[in-house]
Amino acid sequence: MSERKLEISVRGLRKAFGDNKVLNGINFDLFDGEKVVVLGPSGSGKSTFLRCINRLEEPSEGEIFFEDTLIDDKNIQEMRMEIGMVFQHFNLINNLTVMENLTLAPVKLHKFSADEAEAKARKLLKHIGLVGKADAFPASLSGGQKQRVAIIRALMMEPKVLLFDEPTSALDPESIGDVLSLIHEVVEGGMTTMIVTHEMNFAREIASRVVFIDKGRIIEEGTPSQFFTHPKTPRVKEFLEKVL
Ligand SMILES: Nc1ncnc2c1ncn2[C@@H]1O[C@H](COP(=O)(O)OP(=O)(O)OP(=O)(O)O)[C@@H](O)[C@H]1O
Ligand SMILES: [Mg+2]
Repeated sequence: MSERKLEISVRGLRKAFGDNKVLNGINFDLFDGEKVVVLGPSGSGKSTFLRCINRLEEPSEGEIFFEDTLIDDKNIQEMRMEIGMVFQHFNLINNLTVMENLTLAPVKLHKFSADEAEAKARKLLKHIGLVGKADAFPASLSGGQKQRVAIIRALMMEPKVLLFDEPTSALDPESIGDVLSLIHEVVEGGMTTMIVTHEMNFAREIASRVVFIDKGRIIEEGTPSQFFTHPKTPRVKEFLEKVL
């Protein structure tokens, strides 16, 4: 068997907001091609965990590596080109058009020339059926359209890893399916992924590994079939009884 390439390695990650100890020593490895679903109760630290990885939050303690590079304040811009993120509330820039949202970062960070970026953006927009919205502003899009644009915006940078934080939680039921099928396609295409979601069927379908966080610690992990059918800890059993 060939050696799996380590994409992200998290060592002793702790994060406190004042007295609130949110992450309490997380050790975690993400290998190339893995699709890790992160589950856990509300407030357990799932978003904080993802946000620490691309330094939207500054860890209180611990180290996070991308491949062999320690992520720090100096290289974070470069690291964010490799580690993309998709948020619950899309985070599109409202006073820029869809096209401008898609091309801004890749051009600014010299990933592509303006022409190349625009051509790539058009191709991706066409793929998701929204090429007609290139000159529209985000406010004129539905939630599902905004999120699909946010996903292709992340893909514009051709990241090695994509982090999703509850990408469908803010959507109406009808849009959820469209967004999940786009994510499905992206991960099936081989993208190394971490995803926080409350969509249990989807989690089960796409995960190569499930990680369960409780009170800022990973308390259980396994393949989806182990995790969902033979949970080991009472905490996970209780969680699954509520959500399934
Ligand atoms: N920027 C912040 N400042 C202060 N406290 C924060 C901040 N971000 C998160 N917290 C606190 O950290 C804890 C964990 O929050 P986090 O958003 O990581 O949980 P979560 O597992 O993602 O929950 P949910 O499922 O509801 O999204 C909560 O107590 C929250 O109030
Ligand atoms: Mg969250």
